[in-house]
Amino acid sequence: MKNYIIANLKMYLSRKEKVDYWIENFIKNAKNINLEGTEIIICPPAIFFESIYQALKQFSFVSFGLQNCFWENEGSYTGEISPSMLVSSSGRYAILGHSERRKYLKENNEQVALKIKQALHENIRPILCIGETLDEKKADMTVEVIKKQLSQCLKYVNQGKIEDIIICYEPVWAISSNGPARLPSSNEIMGVKLLIKKILTEKYNAKSIEKIAIIYGGSVDSKKIDEACFSPGMQGALIGKASSLPFELIKIAQIFDSVDMSVNKSFAGYR
Ligand code: PGA
Repeated sequence: MKNYIIANLKMYLSRKEKVDYWIENFIKNAKNINLEGTEIIICPPAIFFESIYQALKQFSFVSFGLQNCFWENEGSYTGEISPSMLVSSSGRYAILGHSERRKYLKENNEQVALKIKQALHENIRPILCIGETLDEKKADMTVEVIKKQLSQCLKYVNQGKIEDIIICYEPVWAISSNGPARLPSSNEIMGVKLLIKKILTEKYNAKSIEKIAIIYGGSVDSKKIDEACFSPGMQGALIGKASSLPFELIKIAQIFDSVDMSVNKSFAGYR
């Protein structure tokens, strides 16, 4: 199975010069490497999508997506970008349900469900973000929150399409911009991974569930991937702040690619 390293560039590259510098550094670090089992999915701000795509499409291990997309394909929707627009710009992925959109734009599970439905209809692969806030964690509500987010966000997804979804467990309190980097323990992350699989079993067949990629997000950098991803057996990572540094992003992807977790027994619980 493939690993997915997703660069959520958020609004870090706030000017054209910063984008050019980022591209230049990415090329410098990527030009002599080859990744076989790992895909780097770059999700830039929409306005810079085309220039990043044109500069980096030369790399076979790089794919492209957006940090959001809308639930309709065309029409009178000021400011929105549709899955069909993304497809026609050669994008293949969309991050949906990110906690920053839930927090600042009040995006809810029903809207995320509609976005997932439309994205899948256009063959865009959704990267669905789920995870509890600090208050929910303190109130011991993690299981409840994950169950609700999964069942409501996936309500329009049928058996035939579930394998196309990448599920990212990203505890809101672990995101680097929400305070000093804090990670759940490997056991906690693995517990949520097993919970996700259990919940999906109620609706989808076991064969499909085995094929769904479950990844981790929140304060991941090259020093933390063992604890955050390998030990709990996650199939990739959603990288925010660290993705603004191409060297670090590529290093993370290389580490993932170099570890054959199916044979390395020290990474207990891997798939
Ligand atoms: P972080 O962000 O890696 O900076 O914690 C991850 C995310 O919010 O997707």
